Amino acid sequence: MIVAGVMSGTSADGINVALVEISGASFDMRFELLAHQEYPYPRAVRSAVLAAMNARRASVADLARLNFLLGELYASAVRATVRKSGREVELVGCHGQTLYHQGEAAPYLGNRIAATWQTGEGAIIAARVGAPVVSDFRPADMAAGGKGAPLVPFLDYLVYREARVGRIVQNIGGIANLTAIPAGALPEQVIAFDTGPGNMVVDAVMERLLGKPYDRDGRMASTGNPLEAVLKVLLQHSFFRRKPPKTAGREEFGREFVADFLRRCGRARKEDIVATATALTARAISTAVKSFVLQRQSTQRSALSTQQNHWETFSEYVISGGGAKNRTLVAMLRAQLEPLGLMLRSSDEFGVPSAAKEAVAFALLAYETWHRRPSNVPAATGARRPAVLGKISYVP
Ligand SMILES: Nc1ncnc2c1ncn2[C@@H]1O[C@H](COP(=O)(O)OP(=O)(O)O)[C@@H](O)[C@H]1O
Ligand SMILES: [Mg+2]
Repeated sequence: MIVAGVMSGTSADGINVALVEISGASFDMRFELLAHQEYPYPRAVRSAVLAAMNARRASVADLARLNFLLGELYASAVRATVRKSGREVELVGCHGQTLYHQGEAAPYLGNRIAATWQTGEGAIIAARVGAPVVSDFRPADMAAGGKGAPLVPFLDYLVYREARVGRIVQNIGGIANLTAIPAGALPEQVIAFDTGPGNMVVDAVMERLLGKPYDRDGRMASTGNPLEAVLKVLLQHSFFRRKPPKTAGREEFGREFVADFLRRCGRARKEDIVATATALTARAISTAVKSFVLQRQSTQRSALSTQQNHWETFSEYVISGGGAKNRTLVAMLRAQLEPLGLMLRSSDEFGVPSAAKEAVAFALLAYETWHRRPSNVPAATGARRPAVLGKISYVP
């Protein structure tokens, strides 16, 4: 089956479309990437998306219109990719643009409610593309008691599991998240969670200080020095200490966090501030790896020490997402992770181009849903049971 996966991440930079040929089922699935394209949002759309994420300010009329507009943009992006490939698409899996994500239940009007919202109207995409669409993947996992994220561990487990090599797979989008797959692990043994900011703080700082959307190749950060005192305080943030599973978004590391961050940096040089934001991402990641992956592994290993020991140490660290292009960030990660015995690799080496990975994941998840199979990884989301993810829009 040929499936288009469509992803728009928290960076709100645009749309990634992956066209994938898929066969088999569940973790015996096989797939081949036929095409991948990125379509940046027009400037005005990006502004509207960021405004819509501002929960206190957004207007309902704008949200409703944005839902339909994004449906049109996603459809155009899919059509353009399909046309270029010369193939025909049979199904679309569209993640949509997250406007709000609160994976953890909190008091609301006398109830405890968790909520998530991805926008981009599936019915519009189905009508324009002429193929059924699976969208809105996260609520079913939440209804099963999960946090609705991360969902990419399905792909991570499928592609990166290895009998003898323990791998940590790290995606660095707006938010950074990792999936740790011990050597020979079952899906129940996967550890996955958001490590904190990915590019989100760096991007916001670049925008505020230099009017640029991001730090291309990490050039600005490479000329600065991180402000250690600021880093030390910021790393005390309660999110970093909370145990996984956990998820983050603009709610934690958006506007307010960045305002506080800039206040703390005071009048430091701009390049030092950008270097500090970059180091924050790297430190948040390496701290998470040490506290929640390697630590846990050593306790589990000692518990298993009398049995035949298949718990090899983690030895590879595979990076994907836009942050993989930030050379300064990658150099910082290498400096912190190699002493832990982790060799850095790129997801490109495994046949999944770094920028395409999440779009491919939603093609695979849509394929599973179409065949009525569950595809959340309960160990990753915290769900009580497997769930068939998403809602289907048929061609009218
Ligand atoms: N050449 C580059 N140099 C540095 N950072 C980059 C580069 N290309 C992309 N990025 C970063 O990657 C982000 C987009 O990554 P992406 O994986 O699409 O994230 P998301 O899933 O949140 O949309 C951009 O906002 C930017 O911060
Ligand atoms: Mg993106």
